[in-house]
Amino acid sequence: MLAARFEHHPEIDSTNQQARRLAAKGEAGPVWISADRQTSGRGRRGRGWVSEPGNLYASLLLTVPVSAATAAQMAFVTALVLHDTASKFLPATAALKLKWPNDVLLDGKKFAGILIETLPAARQGQTTLAIGCGVNIAHGPGESLFPSTWLNAHGLSDIEPPDFLRKQAENMQARLLLWNNGKSFEKITSHWRRHACFLGEQVCVTTARGKIHGRFEDIAGDGALILRHDNDSVEHFHAGDVSLRPATS
Ligand code: BTN
Repeated sequence: MLAARFEHHPEIDSTNQQARRLAAKGEAGPVWISADRQTSGRGRRGRGWVSEPGNLYASLLLTVPVSAATAAQMAFVTALVLHDTASKFLPATAALKLKWPNDVLLDGKKFAGILIETLPAARQGQTTLAIGCGVNIAHGPGESLFPSTWLNAHGLSDIEPPDFLRKQAENMQARLLLWNNGKSFEKITSHWRRHACFLGEQVCVTTARGKIHGRFEDIAGDGALILRHDNDSVEHFHAGDVSLRPATS
């Protein structure tokens, strides 16, 4: 990846929306767009993302020379980058985990979320993405669907969002090199697997068909979650369709 440009806003609707505006003007990235506060922060599945000052709200506008299907692997790359970055600021004992497809957890509670949107690309064979990262640093969102936490509740000293972003941008460079435009996705999944939560455990996958229980066997070469049913049959679930919970919830 070329050296990224950084663009910071005291207040903005959504850093992903700003990435969309830049792309519409012909920018291909890489640009890291950050804000102290978002007035219309977006989460996955049409949910909002509470975006008060103190936390990190940042989106990477990035164009990759691969199909949209391959570019979707960036969900795993980005989750790993957030894990790498948080681990730099936390004590070695911190229980950092990745929850399929792309939440990052600390002591079983979510502190970071990723929203990747595909934007119209200028050229065929390329995919332009807005890779939005929300990292709870100074506070959590209050009420939320999944139990949540924030980094400063676990850290040795308070983290400033710009310091986190700088490290995150460095780590993204390194993980993009490793990913090699999808040619080495298995290297990414092998690192991801080491930090995965619920792997090998009984889980509940929530889909449009309802809740499906089984054993979280592995992740497939394309990043799909492999679930083994009680009757021993195996089913693959793709990011976007499902959310994962331990079997007890
Ligand atoms: C999730 O639902 O877990 C994903 C949350 C992603 C939030 C980030 S904050 C920066 C970027 N801008 C947005 O509007 N959303 C993402």
